[in-house]
Amino acid sequence: MSIQVSGINKFYGNTQVLHDVNFTCNTGETLVLLGPSGAGKSSLLRVLNLLETANSGELNIADAFFNFATEVQEKDGLKLRRKVGMVFQQYNLWPHMTVIENLIEAPVNVAGLNKAQAMKEAMQILATLQLADKADAWPMQLSGGQQQRVAIARALMMKPDVLLFDEPTAALDPEITNQIVKIINELSETGITQVVVTHEVDFAKKIASHVLYLEKGYIVEHGTKEAFITPATSEFAEYLAH
Ligand SMILES: Nc1ncnc2c1ncn2[C@@H]1O[C@H](COP(=O)(O)OP(=O)(O)OP(=O)(O)O)[C@@H](O)[C@H]1O
Ligand SMILES: [Mg+2]
Repeated sequence: MSIQVSGINKFYGNTQVLHDVNFTCNTGETLVLLGPSGAGKSSLLRVLNLLETANSGELNIADAFFNFATEVQEKDGLKLRRKVGMVFQQYNLWPHMTVIENLIEAPVNVAGLNKAQAMKEAMQILATLQLADKADAWPMQLSGGQQQRVAIARALMMKPDVLLFDEPTAALDPEITNQIVKIINELSETGITQVVVTHEVDFAKKIASHVLYLEKGYIVEHGTKEAFITPATSEFAEYLAH
């Protein structure tokens, strides 16, 4: 089992944004998080790699365990994020580094991989994502879709067990979105576990093995991709109808 979340509650100040969240995601699954704006999708995703801590509850992920009743240390987050990668809507590439420099930065400077080996692995990953000719380009010279693929390549450099995506296609047109669909589906063949936040139901249907639907910080529905065809709750049915 790759991810197990139990009894997660999260507050910002006095406002509770996650209410007793429980779910399991098995190794190799692609879990899509859907729900209206403000439902808590990004907050939940950020708890999964300790970019945010919860106020209570337990998290089991990539063979690490955290109980939020006791303080989680910054170093725990740094360590966990080597196994649990994140790809953001706005790519977040380092603008002053070329594509290949973006890719080898963390493996060399954080994980201590030697530079020649890191370069070799980076070129392999870039080739897989059809970016080999962009190795020496600067991020600002790339299209949005290319930057997003570089961001995915950079996350893959750490050989993560789990890859988290927050609205990875929000800034992309439909054709480029389909490239991201293909990448996520090919990654799922490799056995990596993926959790993807999105607003786009069509995109969700193309990638999901499982779906978690949230409203106002509560899990309303959790099912397999069959839930897109036969939702168990009226809330999720209504969301899909829009
Ligand atoms: N850093 C923060 N400080 C205070 N409140 C926050 C913070 N981040 C999020 N919130 C609040 O928490 C709630 C959940 O936000 P979150 O970003 O998780 O929602 P979301 O489902 O990702 O929404 P969207 O689809 O718009 O991205 C919202 O009410 C939001 O205003
Ligand atoms: Mg969000």
